[in-house]
Formats: sequence, C-alpha cells, structure tokens
Amino acid sequence: MTTAEETAPMTTSSDRGYVARARERIGNRVVGRERELDLVLAAVAAGRDILLEGPPGTSKSTLLRAIAEEWNIPLVMVEGNADLTPARLLGHHDPARVLKEGYQDENFVDGPLLRAMREGGFLYIEEFNRASDDALNALLTAMAEREVTVPRLGSVVAAPTFRVIGSMNPHDNVGTNRLSASVHDRFNRVSVTYQDAAAERAIVALRTSLTDGRVPTALGEALVADAVALTRATREHPDVRQGSSVRGAIDLALVAAQLCEMRQIDEPGTGRVTAEDDARRRYARSVLDAAGVALSGRIHLDEAAPTTPEAVLEEIWEQHFILDPAAAEPG
Ligand SMILES: Nc1ncnc2c1ncn2[C@@H]1O[C@H](COP(=O)(O)OP(=O)(O)O)[C@@H](O)[C@H]1O
Ligand SMILES: [Mg+2]
Repeated sequence: MTTAEETAPMTTSSDRGYVARARERIGNRVVGRERELDLVLAAVAAGRDILLEGPPGTSKSTLLRAIAEEWNIPLVMVEGNADLTPARLLGHHDPARVLKEGYQDENFVDGPLLRAMREGGFLYIEEFNRASDDALNALLTAMAEREVTVPRLGSVVAAPTFRVIGSMNPHDNVGTNRLSASVHDRFNRVSVTYQDAAAERAIVALRTSLTDGRVPTALGEALVADAVALTRATREHPDVRQGSSVRGAIDLALVAAQLCEMRQIDEPGTGRVTAEDDARRRYARSVLDAAGVALSGRIHLDEAAPTTPEAVLEEIWEQHFILDPAAAEPG
C-alpha cells in the first residue's frame, strides 16, 4: 500500500523547469494572485492536498481551474453539504442495469471521488467545512491510502496526480462543522483575501468586456471603476458583516451597462452629482439601480444593524457620487 508521502510529485527531477514554465502560462490567465498561484502550485506539485481558505469570490476556483487546465487533468467539483455521503462520493451500480445484468464493473457509475482518483484529477470540495464527518472520513482514507475499496467493485488506485482540495469561507459559521485537528493535520493551507482595487477593476474589465469598445470608452471605464468602488465599499460599511465579492461588481457593471443602453445614456459625466447636471445624474441613478439588483442580496448585515441592504447601498452611493466625488473619477 502506498502512502501520501510516497506519491509522485507532478514534476520529475529530469525537468526542473517544468513547473516554472507552467506557472508562467497559468499566470497569464489569472489577474494578479502571483503569490497564491506560487503557493498552490508548489503544494500540488509536491504531491500535497490543500485547503483554500477565503471569502466567496476570491479566485479559489479560478486558480484551480487554471492549474487543472494547464495540466490537462479534470477538476471534479462537489459541494460540501449534508447530502454528500461516502456512497455519493464513491458512486453506485446503475440499479436498472443491475436488474438485467447483475453487479458488473461496467455498470458502476463513478462518483466524484472515484472519478478524480481514476483520472488523476483534483477533487475540489467547495464549502469543505459543511461536509459530514462520514464524508470527511471517506476522503481522509482515500488521501492517506491513495486507494479505496468499493463493495462489489473492488479496489481503485489513484492516479499519481489525484489531489483533494477543499475550499472554505473562514467567516462562515452557520451550519458548518469545526474541522477537527486531525483533519487540519492532513492538509496544507493557503489563505486568500480580496484583491486590491486595481486588480478588481482588471477582473471586471476582463469578465465584462466593457472596456473593449462595446460601449463608449468613457462610459465603459466609468462603469468598471464605479462598480468596483461601490462593491468594495460594501466590505467596509460598519453595519455589514460580509460585503460583496468581485462577482457583485461584475454583475453591477453588466446590469448598469444594460440600463444605460435602455435609457440612452452614452456618457458618465464627471464629478459631483448635482440637480443641474442631468447627464451625470442619469448615469449615477442607473448605477444605483444596478447596485440594488447586483448587490442587495450579496451583502449580509450584522444581526443587530437597524438598517436594510438597500439603505446601506444608498448611503454608499451617496458617499461615492455626492459627498466624495473625487472617488468617482475613473482611474
Ligand atoms: N484573479 C482573478 N483573475 C480573473 N478572474 C477572477 C479572479 N478572481 C476572481 N475572478 C472572477 O471572479 C469570479 C469569482 O471567482 P472564483 O474564482 O469563482 O471565486 P471563488 O471560487 O473564490 O468563490 C469569477 O467570475 C472569476 O472569473
Ligand atoms: Mg468557487
């Protein structure tokens, strides 16, 4: 029986430059995150399993997807929740075929764990701390032995690139299990936080194409910058327990762009929003409307806060467009 310690890393000593070159190519597909990419890549190339910790929308899936695609191995994604049983992780014999053919290896439908083991993929368990103890135990066994035994199927050995990668939001403590020390002891840990404003603008521009000439340049740039500024402000607001990730900024920019098109707004205007400046007011109004759509469900208030998500957004909007207009200048 092999153990994790003996698992072949993704590199061989005959090609020491390989990881560095792969690192370079993967870096081109991810905005920023150089350090996190180095750490995740080093851990998986060393044959280790990892827990990625960070709030939603902080590039965890993006990093893994980029690495898995570069290595041409599957990224098998599952959600950690009460439904994730050991039986679901492993798979099952197709009941209709069992009636006709009896238990055959051919009529076994691989679950995500078996698929990742056979194909040498990353088994990526989102919300790892919501998985049941039974599911965690099944995973830990597969990680330690690189082999599982399934009733009526026999033993399945993991291909060398099989890895288990969990992700979790460290601020998420409703309905989650505190992972035991023995679980933590089997994982390496990489923690991620929000990126800076410039990186978030680059991400929103990349994902929305709003600065690629689809809309007037000044409008596209303003939409991206304002969406990022308002979204980031939700993370700083005193009544907010968890603000929105860059996902909210992407949606805000896209919804606002549609509103501007419907309302025939071609330019964002500049400076403080005033009653006299009709163009600036109409643009800013559309951004506020879009913020309601994109962000109100994504911000989680402190339990005791005597306010609503909509009121918080209005406050943030006022600060950005009226009280502190310098912050509303693009760039
Ligand atoms: N560093 C980044 N580079 C490019 N896109 C990113 C980056 N970080 C986040 N995104 C984009 O933001 C969204 C959320 O990122 P994701 O990786 O799915 O977050 P997580 O898995 O941490 O919840 C996706 O649409 C993704 O494309
Ligand atoms: Mg994700």
